[in-house]
Amino acid sequence: MLLLLAALWAGPGASCPQATGPPPLDLGTDGPASGRSGAVASAEPQASRIGAEVLRSGGNAVDAAVAVGFALSVTHPSAGNIGGGGFMVLRLPDGSSAALDYRERAPAAAHRDMFLDAAGEPTRASRVGALAAGIPGNVAGLGEAHARWGSLPWAELIGPAIALARDGHAIDAFHAADMERATAYMDQAGFGDSAAHFRRADGAAYAAGDVWRQPDLARTLERIARDGPGVFYSGPLAERMVRGMRGQGGIWTLEDLAAYRPVLRTPVSFRYRDHEVISMPPPSAGGVVLRQILAGAEQLRLDALPWRSAERAHLYVEILRRAYVDRNFWVADPDFVRVPLRRLLDPAYVARRLTDIDPLRATPSSRIEAGRPLAGESEETTHFSVVDASGMAVANTYTLNGGFGAKLVIPGTGVILNNEMDDFTSKVGAPNMFGLVQGERNTIAPGKRMLSSMTPTILTRDGRLRAVLGSPGGPTITTTVAQILMQLVDHDRTLLEAVREPRIHHQWMPDVVLAEEALDAGVVAGLEARGHSVRLRPRFGHANCVEVDPGTGTYRAVADHARDGGGAAAF
Ligand code: GLY
Repeated sequence: MLLLLAALWAGPGASCPQATGPPPLDLGTDGPASGRSGAVASAEPQASRIGAEVLRSGGNAVDAAVAVGFALSVTHPSAGNIGGGGFMVLRLPDGSSAALDYRERAPAAAHRDMFLDAAGEPTRASRVGALAAGIPGNVAGLGEAHARWGSLPWAELIGPAIALARDGHAIDAFHAADMERATAYMDQAGFGDSAAHFRRADGAAYAAGDVWRQPDLARTLERIARDGPGVFYSGPLAERMVRGMRGQGGIWTLEDLAAYRPVLRTPVSFRYRDHEVISMPPPSAGGVVLRQILAGAEQLRLDALPWRSAERAHLYVEILRRAYVDRNFWVADPDFVRVPLRRLLDPAYVARRLTDIDPLRATPSSRIEAGRPLAGESEETTHFSVVDASGMAVANTYTLNGGFGAKLVIPGTGVILNNEMDDFTSKVGAPNMFGLVQGERNTIAPGKRMLSSMTPTILTRDGRLRAVLGSPGGPTITTTVAQILMQLVDHDRTLLEAVREPRIHHQWMPDVVLAEEALDAGVVAGLEARGHSVRLRPRFGHANCVEVDPGTGTYRAVADHARDGGGAAAF
């Protein structure tokens, strides 16, 4: 089978077998990729094609997700990874659902004030360098998903990623520019060896079309393929990682790695109008915030207002600022603090929170109860969605946190380190580099998982799959997912239309509406007239999603056009 997958995966220009066997791949060049048997949407076309080929060769959605997850670690290095963590929400062929938490954990030597200087102020060490890295969960998480729900042999699913790392792949313009920016940052931080990992042997930056080979990563992936996910957590590879980390001032130990376990959690599931929503529970705030946004939208009958109207945008923003206060104050790792989930998910509770909304004026966030801060996040993460012929669906969001994580590559391994420790609260009440402030429940403790916004989400209707949704974007993840979902349910839009629509975001603090530059000027003016401060910015999020056409059952995979190079594939 490895040979079969390797043969099917013959690079970007490969043509797809057509005469016999499964139908050809649709790559959706200028629209969604469509098919009735399987679909994948991810941040990078080669990874999506690998996932679709796994489905075509008889693998299920989890097999394909594993293959995509490893492939992105090669082809999408800013966020695809084996040195980070994430969340997977699944719908199984029998209609049941599951949520797998493979978020990073704080090392045992971590402590509450580890990112404060002598004056008690936050330092940059939570974002750059070895201290910033939590104990990675990705390899264990993908391994756990495969052991529970996969059907093809593990090694075969990693084979295409190994081939890409060993033999190289042609870099597109987006990734060439992304890597050049990251290496400049690494040089500034004094991480020349890490920068060299992303540069040509002569020290020059890769240009679009250059072939990038990653022999260290190929060897690491070969080990993981041959010996299983456990090899990442004990034995020579783990020892090498711990040595590499400690050599850079890190605090990981072999015991930290050996103790890492993914956790199967109960998804956050609820009805939105005539649909069922399945999303991620804490330690991600994604499902909770999504629930609160949608309960608020139902309460205020947002569906009855035109999508592109200032009236709707105003009410939506007012819901967001209230939902995000709760996120900041209440949600954290449920294994460490009590999260009052029942109450937070109760529509009656949400309705009470909305009673002070003025339909004509923005409520200043400073007047909104709770006044607790938001965890600091940057906006690099990546989401992919997979559906197979049986209707098994995987919504997977995983991350290094910032682009290229801690900006460190563990020598000799090709493993790019996450900087997920910055998702913890370094100091209660202090704004971070994004102007966000942080809450008490999310302070650092050994073994604790940091709060997240990742919102891998599955939408069903009458027991049938309707869509698989998710996005990167730090705190904007949940609002991106909410806006796509509401357009599907409330406004009968296609997934392509919903993904392409300009987005709006508000997160309580800072008290600013983030709006995409493409948003209608009339909506922006209407928000400002109601007292909102609006900050325009380029596209945010990168929603790689799949929908099932409710009429025909056809799958449509949509890769967000926010960045060049998104990939959709279906057959
Ligand atoms: N690191 C981004 C998040 O977990 O939300």
